[in-house]
Amino acid sequence: MSPVLTVEGLHVAVGGAGTAGSGRGGAGHEAVRDVSFAIERGESVGLVGESGSGKTLTCRAVLGVLPPGVTVTGGGIHLGADLDLTRLDRRGWDSVRGNRIAAVFQDPASYLNPSLTVGRQLAEQLRLKGGLPRLSRAQARTAAVDLLAAMGLRRPSVVYDQYPHELSGGMLQRALIAIAVAGEPELLVADEATTALDTAVQAEVLELLRHLREERGLALLLVSHDLAVVAEVCDRIAVFYAGEIVEQGPAAQVIANPRHPYTEALLRVASLGDWRRRDLEVIPGRPPEPGAMPAGCRFAARCAHAVEACATPVGLSTVDDRQVRCHRAATLELVGA
Ligand SMILES: Nc1ncnc2c1ncn2[C@@H]1O[C@H](COP(=O)(O)OP(=O)(O)OP(=O)(O)O)[C@@H](O)[C@H]1O
Ligand SMILES: [Mg+2]
Repeated sequence: MSPVLTVEGLHVAVGGAGTAGSGRGGAGHEAVRDVSFAIERGESVGLVGESGSGKTLTCRAVLGVLPPGVTVTGGGIHLGADLDLTRLDRRGWDSVRGNRIAAVFQDPASYLNPSLTVGRQLAEQLRLKGGLPRLSRAQARTAAVDLLAAMGLRRPSVVYDQYPHELSGGMLQRALIAIAVAGEPELLVADEATTALDTAVQAEVLELLRHLREERGLALLLVSHDLAVVAEVCDRIAVFYAGEIVEQGPAAQVIANPRHPYTEALLRVASLGDWRRRDLEVIPGRPPEPGAMPAGCRFAARCAHAVEACATPVGLSTVDDRQVRCHRAATLELVGA
């Protein structure tokens, strides 16, 4: 059986033709370069990496919601065996998004209509479910209350009649996950979906995502700054650096035994606590800017293990259970968590 999602050699460029100051004859800058990964039914893949490394643009390409001026310039994104998402027109996307692919983001409140009750918005989604006979209003209400309960919301019939502002962040995210899974999608994209929540609530929502994956066979694409989150929920990890995947493999093994110096550095940062606040201090230097990428390894300038060869271009190679973009991947002894 083919994977639910196959991303193959994806390139995404920002600031294309006509954008002032793009500086390269209107070609724009590649913010995502040669990104490949696949997600099987019931599997979860986590994208990690510093701010600006291309995680969100990759998700948005998969969801067909790239910002204005940002375009897919190469590669393929396939849903199931047949459907090439990069070739969909607007009507094609309307039938895929919310049905076969759904998403939850960091700020659930902004994806709900503040002037409609949560239940009404969920019931609407259930009534409009693609392909199935439309439910009556009463049936949709019952199904919505059941789904809210399945999301772990206590007193779901009370929650049904509440407005978004009456719910806590954790409850809102559960409600939004309910809306996302109402169309019975094959793939759920969760970009920093638990980042804004308290640690305890975050753990509950992650547990819900894991449960949905097992129960419904959902394929999950999860983005997080927090390696601990990804380690807990994901089967596989793809580590992004400056728009490229530098290491990809089974989550437990990548963490215990990193093969790329950048992964090793991230693990060291993660062990110190808040990753986002400390990453720039602990890994000296900054990622290269889009449009000023070195010809060789993009991490070389910050890498403690760099040698002369690192100035030459480096592709992905397979080492054991891993794909690694490092000239020295086969021989370096790195420290895991
Ligand atoms: N709308 C946009 N227009 C121009 N450039 C953009 C746009 N969105 C993102 N970029 C650029 O693309 C690169 C990747 O951004 P992206 O949002 O995918 O990073 P990210 O890994 O999700 O970061 P974070 O962890 O902060 O969410 C960055 O250099 C960013 O500045
Ligand atoms: Mg992001």
